[in-house]
Amino acid sequence: MANSGVTNSQRSSLHGNWSSKLAFILAVTGAAVGLGNIWKFPYMVGMNGGGAFVVIYLVCVFVIGLPIMMSEIMLGRRGRRNPIATMRILGKEEVGHEKWVLAGIIGVFAGFLILSFYSVIAGWTLAYVFKAAANAFANTDATGISNMFDAFVGNPFVIGFWHTVFMTVTVFVVALGVEQGLEKAVQIMVPALLLLLLLLLGYAINSGGFMDGLRFLFQPDFSKLNGEIVLSAMGHAFFTLSVGMGSVMAYGAYLPQDASIVRISAAVVVADTLIALLAGLVIFPIVFANQLDPAEGPGLVFQILPLAFGQLAGGGLFGTLFFLLLSFAALTSAISLMEPTVAWVIESFRLSRKTAAIVVGFIIWLLGILTVLSFSTLKDMKLFKGTPFDNFDYLASNILLPLGGLMVAVFAGWIMCSDSSSDELDPAEGYIYRAWRLLTRFVAPAAVLIVFLHAIGVFE
Ligand code: PHE
Repeated sequence: MANSGVTNSQRSSLHGNWSSKLAFILAVTGAAVGLGNIWKFPYMVGMNGGGAFVVIYLVCVFVIGLPIMMSEIMLGRRGRRNPIATMRILGKEEVGHEKWVLAGIIGVFAGFLILSFYSVIAGWTLAYVFKAAANAFANTDATGISNMFDAFVGNPFVIGFWHTVFMTVTVFVVALGVEQGLEKAVQIMVPALLLLLLLLLGYAINSGGFMDGLRFLFQPDFSKLNGEIVLSAMGHAFFTLSVGMGSVMAYGAYLPQDASIVRISAAVVVADTLIALLAGLVIFPIVFANQLDPAEGPGLVFQILPLAFGQLAGGGLFGTLFFLLLSFAALTSAISLMEPTVAWVIESFRLSRKTAAIVVGFIIWLLGILTVLSFSTLKDMKLFKGTPFDNFDYLASNILLPLGGLMVAVFAGWIMCSDSSSDELDPAEGYIYRAWRLLTRFVAPAAVLIVFLHAIGVFE
């Protein structure tokens, strides 16, 4: 399986290499599995009408997301720098100019925007660890839990505080460069999260709403689809897999040459999808059993899961553990959102890792205040897509990530010569390479373009 990237084996990363393939798999899994799976996926499904959204999301994950993930890791491993420098180097190497650097810039900017709101929601998760531990969900009905949530997010000082705590921890980890130690914990965290979801699934099956939940999640009603919903499903596929912004590219830069990009990507994508579907299978039965609204929005998970924890024997303990694991999953994703920007700042401004992390973290924290206020003071704002949070999410997930992904696909499929790409993607697995090339050259770029054009109403 040894690969012979000649130019490449001589090029080593500025930030060291992963000690092993396992460390890399864990890092990418840690980046992919996060709030996107458990917080965002269920509420997006709920707001976009259920099954049809799920079908489009699944198609996008496997037809667009997976090949782009492979491409991104491949480009990262060839460039061995931060995403911006990688795209500059590879552009020069393949076509002699630096214009492809734009893909890296879009990615770094997207990560920046996403982390600004991601940290706020991760802060909610942290706060809910303590609520669960204090047994705040016991003896409370759906209205009580919903009121608790509204009062919580309606207080900008409280959620601002938790946003600050989360961002501080993230900066700390990135500044000290101790991610690799942390990634090892993913080995325990992801299976533990799965286990707790299975426990909750047991509760959901017995909730009385299981069939309704199942139908909502898996019975597609395609008449509910429109261009915007398809765009959201595609955007979410990018978001949940962490592709389109250089996260996995930055990680790929540290990947040993003999690791199979194909196998690693497939494993990560399957695990990520499984966790999201499981979260949906837990949430919607409880929604319908309690006659609640699936289209509740970003607060959905925080209003539904506490209901289950409030009623389960040992719910206080399970709830605490669950929100703790989710906070942790959010942390490993947040690190990957910050890494491209920090690596770029270090390499371009010759700052120390510590200074770079603190400066970048502070600016992201500041931007995050707008998301903090989106659930109170600015709640009724209707600028473009709504609140600042709505706009940041829309711009990053629905525009920047697909655009970044499109550029990665075009570069990997069309610009990079096939010698380079077949060299990187196990040549032994010929048919997989051909499938990747077909998807990357034609299917993924065409799909992204069509969805974009459809969303802006070109086909109406
Ligand atoms: N994929 C992460 C999640 O689902 C979020 C993320 C997006 C992380 C983009 C890195 C880059 O929570």
